[in-house]
Amino acid sequence: MLTRDVRVPFAVQVGLSAVAGVVSFVIARAAGEFAVGHIHAIPFALALLAVVLLVARAAGILFALPVGTAAILAYDWFFLPPFRDLNEAAFTLLGTFLGMAVIIGAVTTVTSRRAVEAERARGDMAEVQESLRRLALLIARGEAPERVFEAATREVRLHLGSDTATLIRYELNGSTTELAGTGSQRAKVPDQLISRVRETAQANRLDATAVGVPIVVDGRLWGMFAAGSPAGQLPDDTEARMSDYTELVATAVADAQSRAELISSRARIVAAADEARRRIERDLHDGAQQRLVALALRLRTAAHDQGHGDAVAEIGADLMTVIDELRELSRGIHPAVLSDSGLRPALRALARRSPLPVEVDVRLDARLPQPVEVGAYYVVSEVLTNAVKHAGATVVEVSATVEDGSLRLRVHDDGAGGAGFEGGTGLLGLKDRTEALGGTFDVSSPAGGGTTVTCRIPLQPDGGEPGGDGSQNQ
Ligand SMILES: Nc1ncnc2c1ncn2[C@@H]1O[C@H](COP(=O)(O)OP(=O)(O)OP(=O)(O)O)[C@@H](O)[C@H]1O
Ligand SMILES: [Mg+2]
Repeated sequence: MLTRDVRVPFAVQVGLSAVAGVVSFVIARAAGEFAVGHIHAIPFALALLAVVLLVARAAGILFALPVGTAAILAYDWFFLPPFRDLNEAAFTLLGTFLGMAVIIGAVTTVTSRRAVEAERARGDMAEVQESLRRLALLIARGEAPERVFEAATREVRLHLGSDTATLIRYELNGSTTELAGTGSQRAKVPDQLISRVRETAQANRLDATAVGVPIVVDGRLWGMFAAGSPAGQLPDDTEARMSDYTELVATAVADAQSRAELISSRARIVAAADEARRRIERDLHDGAQQRLVALALRLRTAAHDQGHGDAVAEIGADLMTVIDELRELSRGIHPAVLSDSGLRPALRALARRSPLPVEVDVRLDARLPQPVEVGAYYVVSEVLTNAVKHAGATVVEVSATVEDGSLRLRVHDDGAGGAGFEGGTGLLGLKDRTEALGGTFDVSSPAGGGTTVTCRIPLQPDGGEPGGDGSQNQ
């Protein structure tokens, strides 16, 4: 419509519509005088109405009303007899009619324009809410940060109608990393904008072509969101409209950071406990056990040399028993066969010691990282003990393989079922231990259907060193 697309001030439009009314009166009058006697009244009236309709479509009600009024007056005065003279009374009447038509047209135009704007604003708001909701859902589902970042740039571009949207992380060493970007031309974010946002930690803009908004995570400037429009069409409220998105991105980053910190701190706790066990085992082996063995040997020699054999020999034999018990104890603290020979022999030893028949199927070509072997050993040990204690099973199957960079364990008994995390601390402890290693632990135990424990432990948690902590920035 002329009234919307061509940015003419409203007062000028009102003036123009009055002029249009006068001009159409003149034209309709000339046409009427010419058509009298040649054309029938109805087709001529229809032709006039068609013109008014065209004006309404092309220029809007503000123009159609005066043009229509003028056309009807001209039709009445100069086409249908009795014909009129244009005297003062006729001019006054014409002026009044046209004035009224222009006023009604103007009022109607303003009202409908407001209604359209309100409708558009409501639509905009609903779209923003929907787009923020989509993003928040991704974050709540714990999606990987990269996916959240990509989605955020897509949503910002959609929401702002900008040509590009880019997410940039400020690194501690002063450099920057582009984490996600979308856009028709993928123009580079101007360095000037990147450094201005970094220096001021405030939203900044380069004319209407590029806007950057800071992303602050836990009080620290983490990165920025940039929107670009080479044609310079970013509106004044772009910064405010982007800030909802930067807050959501900051939430996703903070979430991912605390998850990574939690996993690595749990892994450190488990590793520290395992290390303490190993130290006690070594200390017992190298210290107390060795001294006891030496003492037993000395006793044996003394008994032999001094001839009062029986009593001392008895003490020596008792001492050997204590040494054996101590050895067993230290193995119980940390299975020596596991440290020395690896998971397969250690699981076989567990199976041999179990009072139930245990079928072991372990397919491992090489030694696994120590925390993984130790974790797996304790899982099988506790689950076997449970099968003996609670299940009333006749047979237990244990399998272990490495698949997609993870150790996968499965222990199944054909017993009563009904296992859960509530009854004791054993299964819960295993779940904590596996999750601390970045893995998963599940129990399926329908009543009467046996119990199946499945457990996955990644060989490299977080894609880094076993037991190492996650990336510091995400
Ligand atoms: N294989 C199984 N078959 C049937 N019930 C089981 C089995 N394993 C565990 N349960 C049930 O689940 C509960 C929880 O097991 P969990 O190992 O956590 O505790 P617990 O063995 O009772 O005690 P502990 O803390 O000494 O391990 C048990 O009390 C038992 O009722
Ligand atoms: Mg138990």
